[in-house]
Amino acid sequence: MNAISIKDLVKTYPNTEALKGVSLEIKKGEFFALLGPNGAGKTTMIQIMTGLCNKTSGEVSLFNKDVYQDYQEARALIGLVPQEFNFDIFEKVYNILYYNAGYFWIPAKERPARIEKILKDLGLWEKKDAQAMQLSGGMKRKLMIARALVHNPKILILDEPTAGVDVETRQTMWTYLKKLNKEGTTILLTTHYLEEAEKLCDRIAIINKGKIIKVDTKDNLLKEHGNKKLEDIFLQLTK
Ligand SMILES: Nc1ncnc2c1ncn2[C@@H]1O[C@H](COP(=O)(O)OP(=O)(O)O)[C@@H](O)[C@H]1O
Ligand SMILES: [Mg+2]
Repeated sequence: MNAISIKDLVKTYPNTEALKGVSLEIKKGEFFALLGPNGAGKTTMIQIMTGLCNKTSGEVSLFNKDVYQDYQEARALIGLVPQEFNFDIFEKVYNILYYNAGYFWIPAKERPARIEKILKDLGLWEKKDAQAMQLSGGMKRKLMIARALVHNPKILILDEPTAGVDVETRQTMWTYLKKLNKEGTTILLTTHYLEEAEKLCDRIAIINKGKIIKVDTKDNLLKEHGNKKLEDIFLQLTK
């Protein structure tokens, strides 16, 4: 069963062909990395999957739900951690999660227990009454992850989640994401930190200038290229 299925996806902005016919299948339970330099089209792909941006042509479905025709069902399957912070910085941490749970129709009486568990798992429980603006950069990132998980999505999509995050926070996030994946959540991560993909993922797609240039297991990629570091493989493929 595919968690994410993308077929011949094209996105054209007035002066840019951001996606030039992308096809990709991500299986249920996978931890998948989408790797690519700035401007490759990673965020555009994610925005189309989550209905934040219209496609020009092609098809995208999540667990067989078309992201356009079955928008509500498809959207509820995804927890999204966008590239930029986009919460209300004056709002309290707890409330940010509470309102987001409401957005996904989680009954009010189920919300407190769920929010408490997620905040505790991510080490943010002591900050539940703090305003988002009072959190450190790493904590803000964790808050974005907590908010994405509040409706218990089957797919978690993270768009460069560790950009600007210190080493310790990054390690905690990695451990948490691995655990989440083991428990059954399909994870799609975009990054340009190759180390991150190498540490976390089963399979990797490399995208460059709107085209997928490689999809393979991490192990195969490393084997095929003489066990060079993923970074070197990447440089070679995107030349
Ligand atoms: N709203 C937009 N309008 C016009 N061009 C855009 C817009 N968003 C992205 N692009 C262009 O599309 C291409 C892909 O961008 P993006 O998907 O953000 O790449 P990535 O996330 O891989 O860095 C880039 O050339 C970018 O400038
Ligand atoms: Mg991006």
